[in-house]
Amino acid sequence: MRKKIVAGNWKMNNTITQTNTLIDGLKTELKETTLEDTRVIIAPSFVNLQQAVVATEESVIEVSAQNMHQSKNGAYTGEVSAEMLSSIGIETVILGHSERRTYFNETDQSLAEKVATAIEEGFEVIFCFGEQLEDREGENHFNVVKKQLTEALFGLAPEAYGKIILAYEPVWAIGTGKTASADQAQEMHAFIRKTLSEKYTDSVANNVSILYGGSVKPNNAKDIFSKPDVDGGLIGGASLKAVDFSEIVKAI
Ligand code: PGA
Repeated sequence: MRKKIVAGNWKMNNTITQTNTLIDGLKTELKETTLEDTRVIIAPSFVNLQQAVVATEESVIEVSAQNMHQSKNGAYTGEVSAEMLSSIGIETVILGHSERRTYFNETDQSLAEKVATAIEEGFEVIFCFGEQLEDREGENHFNVVKKQLTEALFGLAPEAYGKIILAYEPVWAIGTGKTASADQAQEMHAFIRKTLSEKYTDSVANNVSILYGGSVKPNNAKDIFSKPDVDGGLIGGASLKAVDFSEIVKAI
């Protein structure tokens, strides 16, 4: 059975002090909440990951990295490897976020390598993908999404999907305040599941969690999460405030 997941992508925000304060706030806000089948994940920047792991011990909150390099080690100045991350207790990584695709030239081909390395190293991957505004306006969004999945993920063996979380994030909805409607999210998530079932099996398609990301806020989370193929959210801006993020977690 697939899990419900609310993940907070902190992006390039929060110093060490702010990291501690935000985690304390989340722990307080979530203390009384029973989260049965819901996972709560936060993704601070690399420099604050180790502290975040320590600060979330004995809480429901899990910690993810926002990126990793595809090589195991070597002359890649400024990069971080899977082994470095697992050595500080990180087992989950976000890959393919649209900001990394746009500002750091990540492509589905390079992401295929990153995903393969992450899976090989025992990581769980939150794989982000989604269409640009012009793709949606040109009614090409289903083709774009299918191509992203095919190029970055369809080299994986079916068993790898036990470690894959998908995050559909239409680029036009990220940080814009313009969220996809709950029906648009449901329509795409159902398409993603159908695509997975055609490539793999119904079981792969039905067991993978598919998160929606793009301007999810406390006031729209419930509506979006109410859809049958939406298993949670990847939250940017609203994950930086303990109250807002906790409200979103409680909306699931
Ligand atoms: P947003 O970001 O919630 O600020 O739109 C989502 C994301 O980038 O994952």
